[in-house]
Amino acid sequence: MSDAGYVRIFDTTLRDGEQSPGATMTSKEKLEVAKTLSRLGVDVIEAGFPAASPDDLRAVKSIAETVGVDPVQGRRGDALPVVCGLARAAKGDLDKCWEAVSPAKRPRIHTFLATSPIHREHKLRMSKAEVVAKVTEMVGYARSLCEDVEFSPEDAGRTEMDFLYEVLAAAIEAGATTLNIPDTVGYTLPHEFGERIRLLKENVPGIEKAVISVHCHNDLGLATANSLSGVLNGARQVEVAINGIGERAGNTSLEEIVMALHTRHALLGLDTGIDTTQLTRASKLVSKVTGMVVQPNKAIVGANAFAHEAGIHQDGMLKNEETYEIMRPETVGAARTQLVLGKHSGRHAFGARLTELGYPLEGDALQKAFARFKVLADKKKRITDADLVALVSDELYKPVEYVTLEGLQVACGSMGLPTATVRLRDAEGEEHVIAKVGTGPVDAVFKAIDELCEVDLELLEYTVQSVTEGIDALGEVSVRVRPKGEGAASKMNPQREGEEVRVYHGHGTDTDIIQASAKAYLSALNRLMAAREAARKAA
Ligand code: KIV
Ligand code: ZN
Repeated sequence: MSDAGYVRIFDTTLRDGEQSPGATMTSKEKLEVAKTLSRLGVDVIEAGFPAASPDDLRAVKSIAETVGVDPVQGRRGDALPVVCGLARAAKGDLDKCWEAVSPAKRPRIHTFLATSPIHREHKLRMSKAEVVAKVTEMVGYARSLCEDVEFSPEDAGRTEMDFLYEVLAAAIEAGATTLNIPDTVGYTLPHEFGERIRLLKENVPGIEKAVISVHCHNDLGLATANSLSGVLNGARQVEVAINGIGERAGNTSLEEIVMALHTRHALLGLDTGIDTTQLTRASKLVSKVTGMVVQPNKAIVGANAFAHEAGIHQDGMLKNEETYEIMRPETVGAARTQLVLGKHSGRHAFGARLTELGYPLEGDALQKAFARFKVLADKKKRITDADLVALVSDELYKPVEYVTLEGLQVACGSMGLPTATVRLRDAEGEEHVIAKVGTGPVDAVFKAIDELCEVDLELLEYTVQSVTEGIDALGEVSVRVRPKGEGAASKMNPQREGEEVRVYHGHGTDTDIIQASAKAYLSALNRLMAAREAARKAA
């Protein structure tokens, strides 16, 4: 494969993606996502923004020390991914970034400075000359630390072309090896964005020494189209996020770009290093750990992406699948549900299937997952791959548990007030029980949990989906909550003073959706408590 036809996939799920409201991930979850990205075959993992907080720095460093050093099981080829960190164009940020990424065998510093008139005048209060001087100084400093330096002129989509030529030439001169062109606010149209890349290629002195990259936001729903247009005009790196998550309407979605290049290979002749069969799994993992549910009609990874409802389509599909399918579900790892295991399956078969699915559990973790599998197999005859993934990932990505669910009973229907009795155990092992009424059984459960934990949470989002089809399917509940008001600290609710009002997500799976709802709500609450605990320690 010639380098000219190779499009590098730079994944920013852990940085720009994590900037989506409520998508905060724990360090453990970030590491798990990084392993999945490496297995998927991405060229660059933007692991975070180390100067944002000590926690962010630690998370990037731990990715650099692991995924950046040892190949993960299942990654194709020998090349390790580049581990990259983002830094503002400031010495302090660059030092922290270098501290975090330097343990990786292939570290990269990505630094940025806004260049558009509106950012220069209102945000930076800097003249054009000052911007150029800062770029020269800070890219040069980054290059003195690291051989691989990426520079982004933030809001390039709205920057005067002549000024972009000047800034990018200065960045190359100072040692930038990749020039990333962000459409930060998702403003451009595909033909315009492509034209910008073509003009940069033609007019920036020394640009042939650098890789041109594109980073498009989806405010007008054009991120994938704009990125493709950039590639068609010479960009050879695309910045993407799994499921297209990111600031506001998100980033270009990794799976869309990869499958566009793959499906239209005959026309475009461009390749990526992505193992497309891992796309669905990566999408599910990111959805789970960020709490950002994938819309059913989302291209490539939505639940309906390969579903055919209309009779005329079904008839066509039976005659020849290509009548209505431009990609095979297997190609993106979305094989149609298969019956894999049942009540009589043993631990060995269970463990082997999990390993095949990319969850190589051992020892205690395998034992616990197997015990959960047996409980599920008693309730559900046909255990599919999707059930297995839901079962183990619930356990793997559980936040630290300050409060656990010990028991739950609800009474509901049209004959009385929906009532929930909830029993929780706190971090010191003490049990707390309460009964509450609500507008429905889920409301009653959430009210009971709120009262026991002395919290007042605003429920921003509640979704329930079935993992597979059938009356005995597992229900997957996702919630997003935000603390409202203030209250006294307590054992169950350690700290609230001065806390940043953030959105927390939670996820729960069970054949009983009320139980799944309680698990999801408690998982969000445990994330909130972990954040309070971290704030208390940092204070
Ligand atoms: O959207 C943007 O401009 C960014 C830069 C930091 C690359 O995310
Ligand atoms: Zn961005």
